[in-house]
Amino acid sequence: MFFAGIDIQTPTALAPLAGWTDQVFRLICKDFGAGLLFTEMTSADGLVREQVKTLEYVRFSDKERPIGVQLFGAEPDILAEAARRVARYEPDLIDLNFGCPAKKVVKRGAGSALLKNMQLTGQVAKAVVAATEIPVTAKIRSGWDKNVAVDVSRILEDAGIAGLIVHPRTQKMLFNGQADWEIIADVKNAVSIPVIGNGDIKTAFDAKQMMEQTGCDMVMVGRAVCGNPWILSQINDYVQFGIKPQEPSSVERLQVCTRHFQAAIEKYGAQRATHLMRKQIAAYIKGMPKATELRRNIFSLDDAGQVLDTLQNYMLQPEIMLPS
Ligand SMILES: Cc1cc2nc3c(=O)[nH]c(=O)nc-3n(C[C@H](O)[C@H](O)[C@H](O)COP(=O)(O)O)c2cc1C
Repeated sequence: MFFAGIDIQTPTALAPLAGWTDQVFRLICKDFGAGLLFTEMTSADGLVREQVKTLEYVRFSDKERPIGVQLFGAEPDILAEAARRVARYEPDLIDLNFGCPAKKVVKRGAGSALLKNMQLTGQVAKAVVAATEIPVTAKIRSGWDKNVAVDVSRILEDAGIAGLIVHPRTQKMLFNGQADWEIIADVKNAVSIPVIGNGDIKTAFDAKQMMEQTGCDMVMVGRAVCGNPWILSQINDYVQFGIKPQEPSSVERLQVCTRHFQAAIEKYGAQRATHLMRKQIAAYIKGMPKATELRRNIFSLDDAGQVLDTLQNYMLQPEIMLPS
């Protein structure tokens, strides 16, 4: 299948999740069958000012292809310049964030704030499309306080955007209420560029239902992948081959969690990895026997070796090794 002219092997995209989908986790998700990856949102301003931390966000390796680098900002010129700089790394896509609801982003007129001014949204898209040969996609929410998804999608298509990702919640909804998948269907019917549906996919069954209900070309999964990259292969197997999802055992979960931690240590060093991985480990162990106690224990440790030993010892407990 193709999205924005890029050949994609599976119908499942990993959502950009700031603070979660760093290179280490993206590579794990790739192993689990993600057909398309995105970097977490990166400030166009920060890129143009060459802030070291910002530059770290847009780095990726060839193993992660196909990958989109996501940019956020409010000014067409700055976004266009950021896109030119990112293009040097030759990502497969450049994605524009028209969805972030966070206060610190919208108060600068970026993310979902752009949906209040669709003319400017169109100008941003046009400027970035003109700045680079790389296909440019856009990830939208359905609007600021009302649904404008179809109107903005048409404007973006006219501006040369090559594919859309639709998270059908308004900014005002933040992450509350339910994503209205009918809006994805409306966008799909209104434009001729490919559409990825996003929002509230928690199982492989949800993914299939979204595809059938909306006609979207691919699905994108966010929160449900945290501590649970298995959902990606489950969706691929179910959507492509009708294979019903099987849940991994606790031991498998802990093994992947350990592998994730070890890769983080390699990338960031032991100390930084130990802190960065706390929430990720908490997500992997959620729902396991005595998870609260284990999480408290791990959060109290500053030494990577001790965290790894704690995970190892937990894995060897009879109720984990030999579940009833
Ligand atoms: C912690 C967190 C960080 C996020 N960061 C980004 C981001 O950097 N860029 C973006 O476009 N969306 C971001 N999102 C939104 C997700 O990509 C996705 O659209 C949303 O979570 C709905 O999908 P889901 O129900 O599968 O989680 C973030 C969401 C969460 C919960």
